[in-house]
Amino acid sequence: MSHFQGKSFLKETDFTKNEWEYLIDFSLHLKKMKQEHLPHPYLQGKNIALLFEKTSTRTRSAFTVAANDLGAHPEFLGKSDIQFGKKESVTDTAKVLGSMFDGIEYRGFSQTIVEELAQASGVPVWNGLTDEWHPTQMLADFMTIKEHFGTLENLTLTYLGDGRNNVANSLLVTGAILGVNIHIAAPRELQPSQAVVALAKQFAAPNTTFLITENVEEAVLGADVLYTDVWISMGENVDVNKRLTQLLPYQVNQTCLEATKNERTIFLHCLPAFHDLETVEGKALAASLGIEALEVTDDVFLSERSLAFTQAENRMHAIKAIMAATLGDLFIPDLT
Ligand code: CP
Ligand code: NVA
Repeated sequence: MSHFQGKSFLKETDFTKNEWEYLIDFSLHLKKMKQEHLPHPYLQGKNIALLFEKTSTRTRSAFTVAANDLGAHPEFLGKSDIQFGKKESVTDTAKVLGSMFDGIEYRGFSQTIVEELAQASGVPVWNGLTDEWHPTQMLADFMTIKEHFGTLENLTLTYLGDGRNNVANSLLVTGAILGVNIHIAAPRELQPSQAVVALAKQFAAPNTTFLITENVEEAVLGADVLYTDVWISMGENVDVNKRLTQLLPYQVNQTCLEATKNERTIFLHCLPAFHDLETVEGKALAASLGIEALEVTDDVFLSERSLAFTQAENRMHAIKAIMAATLGDLFIPDLT
């Protein structure tokens, strides 16, 4: 039985540094297998429930394709398709799904729900994003960083923007676990909570440094990775003008890329991005302030430095790794 078997992935601290490193290498291994058209049916005959309370392009597609590639059957259960949250409690839903499915993905609002699903279903549950954490995103992100630089050692990742959202929380804690230095530049009101900073410190590998500041120039200096996310997350009910005005100084643009003074800096974004304002929502947001770009400008987003679409593809390989490791009863390769 593999070390991972039967475990859930609800938040970043569920795995140790060694386990994270194994999962990153396993994700890279599975990517190579896919590229070489080598079959990898580690989940033959399994059934996977994909429970979504919020919308998704990457996470839904990644779980679907990964399950198919592994020989499993994915079933999408959208918020308005099932009784969950209206007529039926989380616990009862979990018991029913756990009696039929071998694993459950959940995307939604509260972290408590994903924890309760894991508790009551008796099968592995994977967090596909909550208001607090986005752990499967982290596996793809640090896989992408390792794929590009060949190592995670001595690297600094700088995140600019809303420092209190799920992605910022997750980057801080995952960087800490893996020993990647994390800098976050955000207005004071949107800096990580004390609880998240304390968690990152508690789990930090030796010699990991953190910098949380309002000063963009200080945060980006030397950065190997510049990372941003949308300025308003799904389900957030905020004063749009206030939020945009607060975050405009934290936009990732050419000036800020040059301020890293590091020729090898790459740009990452979990996506979806409001980079070119092509979308209805993007246009409306920017028009309200009369600005031409939101969290990132096209000269960075579309440049050779941007690995955002490799990162998006890697969601699938990373999700495949976590499902195969926690649910597969076949031999999981020793990658050492
Ligand atoms: N990055 C990410 O989770 O994308 P989706 O919201 O499209 O799943
Ligand atoms: N912070 C964003 C991430 C989307 C993948 C959100 O929660 O909407």
